[in-house]
Amino acid sequence: MNYPNLPKECTSLLCKYLTPELFEELKDKKTKNNFTLEQAINSGVENIDSGIGLYAGDKESYTTFAPLFDQIIEDYHGFTKDDSHKSNLNPNDLNAPNPDPEGKYIISTRIRVGRNVDNMPLGPAISKEQREEVEASVVKGVKQLEGELAGNYYPLLGMSKEVQNKLIKNHFLFKEGDRFLESAGLNKDWPEGRGIYHNHDKTFLVWVNEEDQLRIISMQMGGDIREVFTRLVKAITSIEEQVPFSYSEHLGFITSCPTNLGTAMRASVHIALPNLAKDMSRFKNITNKFHLQIRGIHGEHSESEGGVYDISNRRRLGITEVQAVQDMYDGVVALIEAEKSLSS
Ligand code: ADP
Ligand code: ARG
Repeated sequence: MNYPNLPKECTSLLCKYLTPELFEELKDKKTKNNFTLEQAINSGVENIDSGIGLYAGDKESYTTFAPLFDQIIEDYHGFTKDDSHKSNLNPNDLNAPNPDPEGKYIISTRIRVGRNVDNMPLGPAISKEQREEVEASVVKGVKQLEGELAGNYYPLLGMSKEVQNKLIKNHFLFKEGDRFLESAGLNKDWPEGRGIYHNHDKTFLVWVNEEDQLRIISMQMGGDIREVFTRLVKAITSIEEQVPFSYSEHLGFITSCPTNLGTAMRASVHIALPNLAKDMSRFKNITNKFHLQIRGIHGEHSESEGGVYDISNRRRLGITEVQAVQDMYDGVVALIEAEKSLSS
């Protein structure tokens, strides 16, 4: 393979850090699962509007291709190769009373973590048989869940388009055909091995074999962030007893995209900020100050509708889960203050 064509207008972290020299250094390296640099960078090469553009095929990718991954990890998370990751899943350490008890701004709250099964390749390098093995072991694990977490597994294979589209529209299920995942090799054999587990009320859900092998999700209407976090922690702890997760002392939970490493946690609210939306520079000053990311109403790479945004923590590595949620909480409090001042 030759150095890829990375046009000047490409602003992804891949384009920023993949110099011809670094490419030469890494181009012939392979992990034990035969994952190559060419596969790792393909999504960013094919999608030049990527923000990041790089995926790992296995835990080993993070060491085999470290000279590239480390720079991108440091740029995104502010986490250097000498830092170490730490975890805190204790809801008692979270200071997050409902920032909107009257329900004027926050529509819903969702917190998810990504997880992958220990000693398995990640999605970009997994075989069909291994993916099915992952599905079987996750389904066996979640079927043991009890009480509020008890539910059913619905494989994508055989699900009617009508049910699938309704679940997507209502924010419960992942979309189909994401071009970034497609070029990362994450949509291979679709829809086999993919599915969703959820409890009766759809306040607890597990996505199986999407970008990560598990996405464990807690969500509900309104702004009770602590209740959502508490349910998520209960779920993570119970699933971990059944399914061993891939973890590294340095990088925390291993995920296929380097933005998700560490806590692998994204805590978000859907929030109506119609006035702030008219002053995007003020809006972005606040989100930058609190390390927040703005997404549209139908998830990543979607647009806002009616002044409603998905606001979430941006950092996930080198901070604890409690801090990740606290980032989101503190920022949301500031956003509501600003919105109030503009509407009075
Ligand atoms: P992920 O959170 O897994 O990284 P996305 O950004 O694509 O992926 O979001 C997945 C789905 O979750 C989308 O349908 C999105 O609208 C929904 N979602 C995210 N945050 C919230 C929230 N606070 N309330 C309701 N739905 C949400
Ligand atoms: N690969 C995509 C990009 O670089 C997404 C990166 C972050 N999001 C994610 N779902 N992993 O823009």
